[in-house]
Amino acid sequence: MKHPIFAANWKMNQGPADALAFMRQFLAQYPRQQDRSVLIFPSALSLSAVTGALSDRPDIQVGVQNIHWADTGAYTGENSAAIARGAGARYVLIGHSERRHVFGETDEETGKKAAAAERAGLTSMICIGETLAQREAGDTSTVVLRQLRAACALLTAHQIAGSLVAYEPVWAIGSGKTATPEDASIVHAAIRSELRSLTEERGEGVPILYGGSVSKGNAVSLLAAPDVDGLLVGGASLDPDGWSAICRT
Ligand code: 13P
Repeated sequence: MKHPIFAANWKMNQGPADALAFMRQFLAQYPRQQDRSVLIFPSALSLSAVTGALSDRPDIQVGVQNIHWADTGAYTGENSAAIARGAGARYVLIGHSERRHVFGETDEETGKKAAAAERAGLTSMICIGETLAQREAGDTSTVVLRQLRAACALLTAHQIAGSLVAYEPVWAIGSGKTATPEDASIVHAAIRSELRSLTEERGEGVPILYGGSVSKGNAVSLLAAPDVDGLLVGGASLDPDGWSAICRT
């Protein structure tokens, strides 16, 4: 039996007032569930609005979309893992496609950020995915497994086994083009196999989420695919009605 994870990445949307209004509406329609988990990644500045709305809801956890790799220091505008943790985050997205492709984050930086997350007690969701050109060149698994190894480079096998992975093909993000469940399964199986060796055979329980143009319409078939343990949702997570429908998939 799967215990699916539904993760909402709000990206640069929903300030504190909108986040609070969202949570009120979402919680009213989505009573506590035992058989699934929900993760919400708001803007760091909306974190306290989201956590403040959550009392007695251990089925819903909150995370940040990014952290700096240093613990403290002169890094104007950045947030450390410890600051995020102190503000109520329990999870962090590492190496999201937009961090890599808009802000030039490197494989090496993802590794340093995952290590910083561990030091502060945040759980990493390691985001990996190939571009369209890489897919068309037949390099999908080479790229995603390289990204996975780099993000895990400074972690112990035990720490990797406690992390999550999100496969988000770059060409599917915000494009309306979703990987087919079969395509997602093939890549997830390759990730699973790499996780087995990275964790010294403790990788079976690492949740592997799919992300990229997930909607109410395709959530059921994606989640039914082998090795797809959850969904990481951008645009379709911004509407509380649609999001609660996806979380009930
Ligand atoms: P969309 O669901 O809007 O395609 O975004 C996916 C994503 O990047 C989630 O992290």
